[in-house]
Formats: sequence, C-alpha cells, structure tokens
Amino acid sequence: MDLPSFEPYKTKMVEQVYSSTRTEREEWIKNAGFNLFNLRSEQVTIDLLTDSGTGAMSDRQWSSLMLGDESYAGASSYYNMKKALSEITGFEYFLPAHQGRAAENVLFSALVKEGDFVPGNSHFDTTKGHIEFRKAIPVDCTVEIASDFKSMNPFKGNVDPAKLEDVLKKNPREKIPCILITITNNTAGGQPVSMANLRETRKLADRYGVKLFLDSARFAENAWFIKKREDGYKEKSIREIAREMFSYADGITMSSKKDAIVNMGGFSAYRDEDLFRKASAYNIIYEGFITYGGMSGRDMNALAQGLYEGTEEQYLRSRIGQVEFLAERMKEYGIPVLQPTGGHAVFIDAKSFLPRIPDGKFPGQVLAVELFIEGGIRSTEIGTLMADRDPVTRANRFSGKEMVRLAIPRRVYSDNHMNYVAAVVKNVFERRDRITRGLKIKWEAPILRHFTVVLERE
Ligand code: F0G
Repeated sequence: MDLPSFEPYKTKMVEQVYSSTRTEREEWIKNAGFNLFNLRSEQVTIDLLTDSGTGAMSDRQWSSLMLGDESYAGASSYYNMKKALSEITGFEYFLPAHQGRAAENVLFSALVKEGDFVPGNSHFDTTKGHIEFRKAIPVDCTVEIASDFKSMNPFKGNVDPAKLEDVLKKNPREKIPCILITITNNTAGGQPVSMANLRETRKLADRYGVKLFLDSARFAENAWFIKKREDGYKEKSIREIAREMFSYADGITMSSKKDAIVNMGGFSAYRDEDLFRKASAYNIIYEGFITYGGMSGRDMNALAQGLYEGTEEQYLRSRIGQVEFLAERMKEYGIPVLQPTGGHAVFIDAKSFLPRIPDGKFPGQVLAVELFIEGGIRSTEIGTLMADRDPVTRANRFSGKEMVRLAIPRRVYSDNHMNYVAAVVKNVFERRDRITRGLKIKWEAPILRHFTVVLERE
C-alpha cells in the first residue's frame, strides 16, 4: 500500500477555538453592521477571513525571534533576510516594509504618477487602491476564462497577452511605469499564472520597453501549481521554479504574511540599482531605514526562516492538499465552487448559490453573513462590495463575479475543522431558497469601502 502523505509538522502549542449559539451570532453580526471585519475574533469559531498573517510559525521561526538583532542599521537580521531573499528570489537589492501594501506604497511612490496606466492580470484591492490614490489607472487584463467558474483550465490566473498588448500599444511608453502580475492571482480565485505566460509577458515588456513587476505574496503556491500542471516542471524543485519565475521580473513586492508564513512583514526587491536608490528614499520616509523598513530585527529573522519553510515541497503538498480537501467536500454536497481549486482558498459562486439575490443587493456578502450565522465561520466577499465604485463615475463596479472566499490559514486548522466548515456551508445551501433578503449600504468610505462598510438588511 502507498503510504499517505501527511502534514510535515506536529503541534507544540494550542489555542482555544470558540463556540457560540445562533442567537448570539445573529445579534453580533447585526451589531457589526453585517460586516465581518467588525466582529471580534472571540465571536468567530473558524476564521477564514484571510490567510494573511494568520499562519502558525514554526519552532524554528519562534526561536529565530530570540536571535533578532534590533540595531537600527546593518542588523544581522537584515543580512539573514538578504541571504534568504537572494537565494530564493535572486534579487540582490531589497527594502523591508511592514507589510505588502507598504511595499506597494514604496514602489509606486518611485514609479507611478498621475495619468499613468498599470496593466496586469488582476490587481489586488490594496494595489488598485495605491494606483488609484495616485490618480493613475489600474488595468485588469485577466484572461476571459477566469470568469468561467466551471472551466478546468489549469492557469486561470494568467494575463491575456492580447489585452495587455492593446494597452501597451495604445499608450505612450512613459505612461506605463510597469506591468504588474500577481502570483497567484488572488482576485481571480487564487489561480496560478503559468511560466509560459510569465515568459510571454516578459517578451512583451521588452518589446515595449516597459518594466515587469510581480506581486509575489503567494509565489510558492504558484510554483507548486507550475510543478504540478505545466509541462517540463515535474522534476524541478519549488525553489528552482520560483527562481525562474523571478528571473523574468525587474522587481517584486511581497506581503510576507502569506507564503513566508509570518504574522507581519513584507518587502520590495529590485534588479535595477537606480530604481532601488530612488525607492530607498520613500522607504526611509514611510517605513524606516533601508535595513529594517518597518520591521523589527526579530521579525526579519522569522521572515527569512519562513521563506525557506514556505518553499518546501512537503509543506506545499499538505497546504494545498487541505484547500483541495475542503473544496472536494463541498463539491460532494453540490455546492458551486470555483474550479480548479485555488492555492489559498475555496471560492464559492454566490450568484448561483443565492440566485434570488441580485448583484446590487450584494449576494456574496449575504452568503458570508449566513455562513457566520449558521456556524460562526468568518469569510470574505469578493464581489461588488469589494469591487468598490468607479473612481470617476462613482457607480458600483460589477465585475460579473460574486464570490465568497474561504481562505485557509497556513498550518492552523485540521481537516476535521474543514469537515465542520463544509457541513456549515451545506446547511446554508439546503435552506438557500428561503434566503431572499439582500443588504444595502448605510455608510461607506470613499476608497476600499469593504473594510469598514456598514450595511443593513433590506
Ligand atoms: N497583494 C496580494 C495578492 C494580496 O493578497 C495582499 C493581501 C496584498 C498584496 C497586500 O498585502 O495585506 O500584507 O498589506 N491580501 C490579504 C488577503 C489581505 O486577505 O488576501 P498586505
């Protein structure tokens, strides 16, 4: 008999999981303005709001904290991070930042100006926010197949080269500071970008004299999918694949709260020394001196160690295997989930789950609220609420997708927790015909509204 694979770790410390009653949860979510970000964590049973900063660090990471060097400049922890970064990404110049969006702020301060266009596969919401905040325009050039929930296309995170070339052709070079490809493509459902697509994008970038950056929050998960799904990569190690992915880029930003399995941290990295120097000035203003940039020495140590652990094959097999396990359970119950399963989360198609709630009444958010009421699960809407308003017309943006994301923290929950989650979703699915009341906005912020929005039932 073939021996089954298993989690390459065991538990040294545990944390309480909270239970509650349906009556309590109904009250809590109402008081939270039907916004799951407003809940207290003790009110949540299984927290699948995000896989960002919510992972469990290893004993090696915890012990590396004790060796943190808190010197303002030139700390040994900085050099530990530099070594890990150079071995895993190949970039020699980098700037620590306190998280991914801070790295975006530093990079875009150096690159993006009013009236620019930044094309890519699908920008994450903070990325979009940083671009729009500078009165520049993010352009999503996602492949069409990404919006087909059922298609088993292996690389639904890809950028559409024809759409991208169109943007490059129509605009003068100086208006396009960079192309930005997000690996894996979170907005499109944690879907991977193929190596062939990265190679082709590099060619386009060279042809039009434009820089190519990668948002590499989940680069290791992307590398795993390339190994599993793309010809010619089966025998390559995750780190070899990652190095090739990075070789096509002029630089990267990274939220290390994902694939480097730390609770806080990030960085931007550069191939070009001049751009690195320019960005350094912004790093100093916004984040801190270039050898710590918003991170303490101990956190840089944990990040360095996490980069190695996050790129181990056995870890990725169990990590992505767990996400797939949850998706399979839900599929057995007939629940419409995005296919194929993404790297960090299971995405439910809220539109077909709740066909009686129209787009303008936020079906994704309605479903997320129901999952909380049913079993204390916290998830996120990725739909009209998150897509926000058009910055010019202020009309709601309908991306055509209404999803609920169940993001799985790394090394935190067991498969039994996943069985519980699937059962909760099943119970809501069974009473879906009785869910007919939508939500409407009572108050919203002018940008990134989904974090703080206050909603009410219709
Ligand atoms: N890029 C991607 C692809 C992300 O998914 C995120 C964060 C960021 C950038 C920003 O990084 O949070 O460290 O500032 N995503 C989290 C999520 C919040 O839930 O998907 P950050």
